Amino acid sequence: MHEPIVEFQNVSFSYGSRVALQHVNAVINKGDYIGLIGPNGAGKTTLIRVLLGLLKPSSGNVRLYGKNIKEFKDWHKIGYVQQKATTFDATFPVTVEEVVAMGRFAFAGVGRPLDHHDRHRIGDVLKMVGLDKVADRRVGELSGGQQQKVFIARALASDPDLLILDEPTTGVDVRSQHEFYHFLHDLNVHHRLTLVLISHDTDVVSTHVSRLLCINKTIMDHGCSIEFLLPSHKHNDVKKNEQIFKRVRHKH
Ligand SMILES: Nc1ncnc2c1ncn2[C@@H]1O[C@H](COP(=O)(O)OP(=O)(O)O)[C@@H](O)[C@H]1O
Ligand SMILES: [Mg+2]
Repeated sequence: MHEPIVEFQNVSFSYGSRVALQHVNAVINKGDYIGLIGPNGAGKTTLIRVLLGLLKPSSGNVRLYGKNIKEFKDWHKIGYVQQKATTFDATFPVTVEEVVAMGRFAFAGVGRPLDHHDRHRIGDVLKMVGLDKVADRRVGELSGGQQQKVFIARALASDPDLLILDEPTTGVDVRSQHEFYHFLHDLNVHHRLTLVLISHDTDVVSTHVSRLLCINKTIMDHGCSIEFLLPSHKHNDVKKNEQIFKRVRHKH
């Protein structure tokens, strides 16, 4: 049984005269692990900002957990790690634990001090992402991969049901990326989190997710075309491209 938690119904959005989204129709079901892919400027971040209620569609409608977005109140269910969260000033005196605690404040509401339950949850989340040993370290001292986990931990601290990651591996080295995708898989399968992973890196993402949504202002209805999926086609690595295409086709 599919349980739709996000529904985009004919959503269009323009920044002034610049059209960013055109008649987007898509559904995200509970338990999905979706790769939202498309070239730079395709409207990926815009679509997520519409989902989060930060931008209002010019036309069309968004439904969250079966409710019209205007009536939706359970924002703590949706965790969001924004693009380029890894750029962090190394000298900024904030610890891992403090950043993760911010996720808890968002949940508790500003003004309420963190209680025993909050502290417990922060500890759990730090363990979950493997940062419990570095809880007191400054975020800026950590590697790119570890910093990314700090921001994910912050999102997880509010107990989301849906976690959206916008280009999370930008600036993360290949080895940490591998570990990172393993971690996401674990969140999806063992912690039953619905994941949306945004990326322009089709190759890597297609190997990890269970469903691809291809966007270029609109969502490609019939899956992703080979030209769309494989901008690297031009770069003559034909064999590799064929492998990716087969893998992705298999998932559709
Ligand atoms: N704040 C903004 N004001 C005007 N145009 C914007 C703004 N943000 C994004 N755009 C434009 O909207 C289009 C989609 O951008 P974006 O959603 O950021 O794409 P992606 O995340 O896929 O790279 C691009 O053409 C971009 O230049
Ligand atoms: Mg973007």
